[in-house]
Amino acid sequence: MTPLEELLAERIRRYGPIPFADFMRECLYHPVYGYYSKTELQRLADYYTSVDVHPIFGRLLARKFAEMWEQLERPKEFLLVEAGAGVGRLARHILDFCEATLPDFFAALRYVAVELSASRRKQAAERLERHGRANHLRITQEIPEHVPAGCVFSNELMDALAVHRVVMTAGSFEEVLVGCDHGRFVDVLGPVSTCAINDYFATQGITLHEGQHAEAGLEACDWIAEVGRRIERGFVLTIDYGHRARELFDERHMRGTLLAYQQHRVSEDFYRSPGEQDLTAHVNFTALENWGKRSGLKTTEFTSQTAFLLALGQPNEFADVYDPGQTETDQIRARLQLKTLIHPEGMGERFHVLLQRK
Ligand SMILES: C[S@@+](CC[C@H](N)C(=O)[O-])C[C@H]1O[C@@H](n2cnc3c(N)ncnc32)[C@H](O)[C@@H]1O
Repeated sequence: MTPLEELLAERIRRYGPIPFADFMRECLYHPVYGYYSKTELQRLADYYTSVDVHPIFGRLLARKFAEMWEQLERPKEFLLVEAGAGVGRLARHILDFCEATLPDFFAALRYVAVELSASRRKQAAERLERHGRANHLRITQEIPEHVPAGCVFSNELMDALAVHRVVMTAGSFEEVLVGCDHGRFVDVLGPVSTCAINDYFATQGITLHEGQHAEAGLEACDWIAEVGRRIERGFVLTIDYGHRARELFDERHMRGTLLAYQQHRVSEDFYRSPGEQDLTAHVNFTALENWGKRSGLKTTEFTSQTAFLLALGQPNEFADVYDPGQTETDQIRARLQLKTLIHPEGMGERFHVLLQRK
């Protein structure tokens, strides 16, 4: 058994089966053995995100943030908070582009890169050192307590937050807990561990089919409600894969949407090598809208990544995809990478963008 398996098994031996959310949180975020506490190289071997595809993703986002700044009537300081900033790659794309292309916006821009993992914060600090020195950026572990004017945004953070698992049995919810049997982690059915699970489904009017498995993303709900509370004037922009509730919990998703990723392979073997594989569940955008409303966030846009990026890139025919002095081959490669981000069969239709405003 690995040290993390030992820790989890010991906890289960002492206290009984644990909610899957607790198991997932330890697997992903244990400060030493968690998946996200390890080097970024492992993550790149398992899966990639839009940020890894091409800097155009960050450049188009930068244009969106500059629009927001205009909509807020050009506040002297615009706090741009990236939640789950990883090693700072997206931050670098956005800051470099704003500096070179959007000087008025850049003068007001104060970037806050928020990242839970200490090792990733360290890597981000190295990558972004120049912008930090110029007072355009700081790196923290927590969303700022108060955002007077700005935007809190995330790319593929919500799908990485811990979820509870349930199954509909004889008309009521049972929770799928994690037990340990002769050193192997196993599903154990039991009564729900918190009434927040019932509230989650009832608030959204969701009824599951008999035998259907589903996830309750309670952490994502708490997160968005808290972020809404901290924003005085501004936006929350969430980019991730997922659906609105009606689709997420329909008969096409009878087994739920939880998946494990390792070496670009997908499986439902959630208990294999804890801390060595990524665990992720599709995002419930309806829940983000509902819990956002509780702290004054109103939905202004919900669209596919395709439509979102097309609207930002078309005015200048995606000129931002090119770098000065590029060869023709590099330009062709850049156009192909752009296609991966936008094409419906690439990441374009799988990913959605939710924009909320307060
Ligand atoms: C799937 S990765 C995405 C990284 C990056 N946004 C990208 O698109 O490449 C999720 C990141 O969010 C971080 N994270 C998870 N929960 C967090 C939280 N509550 N606050 C800040 N960062 C968090 C993880 O450590 C990880 O670096």
